[in-house]
Amino acid sequence: MNAKDRELRNKAAATVEENEERVNQDHYRLNYHHMPPAGLLSDPNGLIQWNGVFHLFYQWMPFHTGHGEKFWGHCTSKDFVNWEQQPIALTPSSWFDKDGCYSGSAVVHDDKMYLFYTGNVVNEQGEGETYQCMAVSDDGIHFDKKGPVIHLPEGYTSDFRDPKVWEKEGSWYMVIGAQSKKRHGKAVLFRSEDLTHWELVGNITGSYEQKLGELGYMWECPDFFELEGQGVLIVSPQGLKANGMAYNNRYQSGYFTGTLDYNRGDFTHAEFKELDRGFEFYAPQTTLDEKGRRILFGWMGVPEQYEEAHPTIENRWIHCLTIPRELEWEGNQIVQKPLEELKEMRESVLLHSDITIENDQKGIRGVGGNSVEIQLEFENIEEQFALELFHYAAFSYQKKDGILTLSRPHLEDKSKTEFRRVKLDGELSQLRLFIDHSTLEVFVNGGEEVFTSRIFPQKGNDAVLFTSLGASTFSIEQWKLSG
Ligand code: FRU
Repeated sequence: MNAKDRELRNKAAATVEENEERVNQDHYRLNYHHMPPAGLLSDPNGLIQWNGVFHLFYQWMPFHTGHGEKFWGHCTSKDFVNWEQQPIALTPSSWFDKDGCYSGSAVVHDDKMYLFYTGNVVNEQGEGETYQCMAVSDDGIHFDKKGPVIHLPEGYTSDFRDPKVWEKEGSWYMVIGAQSKKRHGKAVLFRSEDLTHWELVGNITGSYEQKLGELGYMWECPDFFELEGQGVLIVSPQGLKANGMAYNNRYQSGYFTGTLDYNRGDFTHAEFKELDRGFEFYAPQTTLDEKGRRILFGWMGVPEQYEEAHPTIENRWIHCLTIPRELEWEGNQIVQKPLEELKEMRESVLLHSDITIENDQKGIRGVGGNSVEIQLEFENIEEQFALELFHYAAFSYQKKDGILTLSRPHLEDKSKTEFRRVKLDGELSQLRLFIDHSTLEVFVNGGEEVFTSRIFPQKGNDAVLFTSLGASTFSIEQWKLSG
């Protein structure tokens, strides 16, 4: 621990303490999601399970609600429900990461945990420099920085970051999010036999690669893994233009599936598909747990998407992570399911079966609340079905065209309503909603589509209203969720 590191840790602890009261009285604080004790939280980093303990790191700016010189916050859990806050894992205290310990990943090797992250540096000329760095730990709590293991190769700008490392047949691989000198987003592969010396393999895909055409000027936070034999590359490209119902957020996150030729460094894949349809979802990361499940956390935020308009800012905190989700491969796409362990949060249950609403809007006894899971199973929807949440957001389904719509007051201009939509392949059969004060995650038809969003209803509003055009018949199960 150098003097700068000590100073930053003390300053972070003092800022948290100073803001504690103000932060905690905010009625938008969350019950079962990860959020910053003060300041800004963004990408999940370094997800890994080690000796039964799950480690979750995240990008954290303790000092204010803007971005900047990020720390790696850290917490651990054995069951995904009860979490223990751990000491800060990385502070921007060294010459190679002085302007931010940016995103990265973790692996375990020879009974040690290795973190790989991007050291962000702004030099004296005001230019960006980027170093892919390594830090090692014997106990998973205290990390010893080893400095840069990769310097910026020829052909890329300094937007070169977010290393994700994995092992395949005895070798280590790393994929990095990059921008070529021509300003095209790329996913760049490296290989290593010892985690320290890395050899550049090349672009596995990217904007203007693999017959893709234009697909963004920068790719952030890549993640590569196999899901039931499919190669999956998740990336967060920047610079996609809105196209009908697609790409409506400022930046997107999605995936390609296909086959990676590790020797040639070539990923042959299908089209890019968005992972989420809501207003806030970005920079997800996955890991394989000890049971062989592929688990994902995402950031419930989007960079530069009216972050200044979030009402939590006046209480000195902003953003959170999603709930953990298990990824499965179903036919021709990834489906996302809330992690099984979250059922442990369920307290009282409420059940209504065989409800029919016809050309009417109404509440249903006991349904609502601000820390709940609500599951709806549909028997039949004649025309249109909608949920109005907390006199704030609405979620609706139009049978004729199969379109699902989430709407909420525009965060910047409250006189407007903003929408996110998707067209379902089949009919709507199930909705599973996770609500936590100022978050909403809706899993549609077993996770075939997901809408992740912040919601900012007025204090005390926790009513859910059901509307149907024509007749809708369904059942409801609702659980109050403990934190
Ligand atoms: C994505 C991102 C990453 C970067 C990090 C910095 O949200 O921009 O590319 O490493 O955030 O906090």
